[in-house]
Amino acid sequence: IQLAHELQKLIQTCPAPLKEVSQKDFEGYEKLFGRFINESGPSVEWDHIQKLPEDSVRRYAELNRPEESAVKDMLNKLVVVKLNGGLGTSMGCQGPKSIIPVRSELTFLDLTVQQIEHLNKKYGTNVPLVLMNSFNTDDDTQKVIRKYQGFQVKTYTFNQSRYPRINKESLMPVAKTCGPEGDLEAWYPPGHGDFYQSFQNSGLLHEFVCQRKEYVFISNIDNLGATVDLNILNFLLGGEAAGQCEFLMEVTDKTRADVKGGTLIQYEDKLRLLEIAQVPKDHVDDFKSVKTFKIFNTNNLWIKLGAIEQILNEGIMDMEVITNNKTLDNGLNIIQLEQAVGAAVKCFSGAHGINVPRSRFLPVKKTDDLLLVMSNLYSLQQGSLTMSHLRMFDTTPLVKLGPNHFGRVKDFLKRFASIPDMLELDHLTVSGDVTFGKDVSLRGTVIIIANHGDRIDIPPGAILENKIVSGNLRI
Ligand code: UTP
Repeated sequence: IQLAHELQKLIQTCPAPLKEVSQKDFEGYEKLFGRFINESGPSVEWDHIQKLPEDSVRRYAELNRPEESAVKDMLNKLVVVKLNGGLGTSMGCQGPKSIIPVRSELTFLDLTVQQIEHLNKKYGTNVPLVLMNSFNTDDDTQKVIRKYQGFQVKTYTFNQSRYPRINKESLMPVAKTCGPEGDLEAWYPPGHGDFYQSFQNSGLLHEFVCQRKEYVFISNIDNLGATVDLNILNFLLGGEAAGQCEFLMEVTDKTRADVKGGTLIQYEDKLRLLEIAQVPKDHVDDFKSVKTFKIFNTNNLWIKLGAIEQILNEGIMDMEVITNNKTLDNGLNIIQLEQAVGAAVKCFSGAHGINVPRSRFLPVKKTDDLLLVMSNLYSLQQGSLTMSHLRMFDTTPLVKLGPNHFGRVKDFLKRFASIPDMLELDHLTVSGDVTFGKDVSLRGTVIIIANHGDRIDIPPGAILENKIVSGNLRI
């Protein structure tokens, strides 16, 4: 009640154009906060986890390619949504992550638009691209997308909610005013689970249902492997499932590097997304085990539009609340409540997982990932990256770049005269003040460590094969 009172006070400070949206946001926030207060303890009873039913997670290799003549009809029933609420801060960039150049001067957004335009041109279709922006990304994104006006892709945007961060001690909002001139740090976008309600609030959900679109393909904008896949679309629209599967989650085999990703479980006779935040403390090791939980969620999701609308209208959309504790720049401890888009899987009928090749999960979270996607390990065709056929193994190299000298994109770029050849690389660790000359080739396991105060310049044309370079050695 006290929170509701504080929120009402905040609304009074809202400039007129923001008032209506903020009122809607706060209604959503009050519901989420209510759940946070009332639900204590983990949402999953470990012993109640059931065995995954045999065919609940299908294999990608068993899907059929649609007949070429059927593709156009299928694509015309599809809407592509990219989750674009996040910033590029983890790579030291200001502004939306999606406008960072990742390959051949092209940004995540450019690549996405190219991919969809290619489909639309090839099949004569009108697959739209929808961006879910946040208050953090909307202004910059709007400026950038003007350049796509002449493209054969209709682009839509909508904004997700803006929720108030709350003081961890008092559980009251940090914000003093609601307007845009206020403290930006006092607000946050509440995770991608916000997609459903915000999509409906924007009117776009209903608009697409009326246009007879049937499925939405949602993915993280920073996953360069999340392309429109015709075999999956065929499974949903043309194959045995034909309209029965309301929710399809792309999962992929877990490796030791993926222990934190959410997994699919069977619970209360339904598929459910299990995130690390919901795991009771004494089962965290079980959760991380590659043997017990073999797959993880890529966040590439295919969902039936009509089902989203129905579930929202019936008021039965349900996702677990994730409590994210943070410390603001001014040292204040806050809580932000979030939800994950995949957690809604339990609300849909005929939900399935599909175990896809690792290539559909190519996220760029750090400059370590950026180095891989910029290199000759991948080739770029119509906005899609594919692993070079010259690479002998299916796996990508493990790359670890020192965060101090390589963590920010700007610094990272300055340190490479050109991106090294990495076709035969297995493992690269670089730490300290290191630079790479032009046309360097890295093979096998390469470790380069410049100690504090030292600098290592790898000369142009150097071939480093199973080599450790350290100290202030010049080679
Ligand atoms: P995250 O930053 O949440 O990435 O953004 P993650 O660490 O892989 O986490 P999960 O497991 O997917 O949650 C994932 C995508 O979601 C968008 C980001 O822009 C990114 O594309 N996102 C995230 C939003 O659109 N809104 C949010 O509130 C949070």
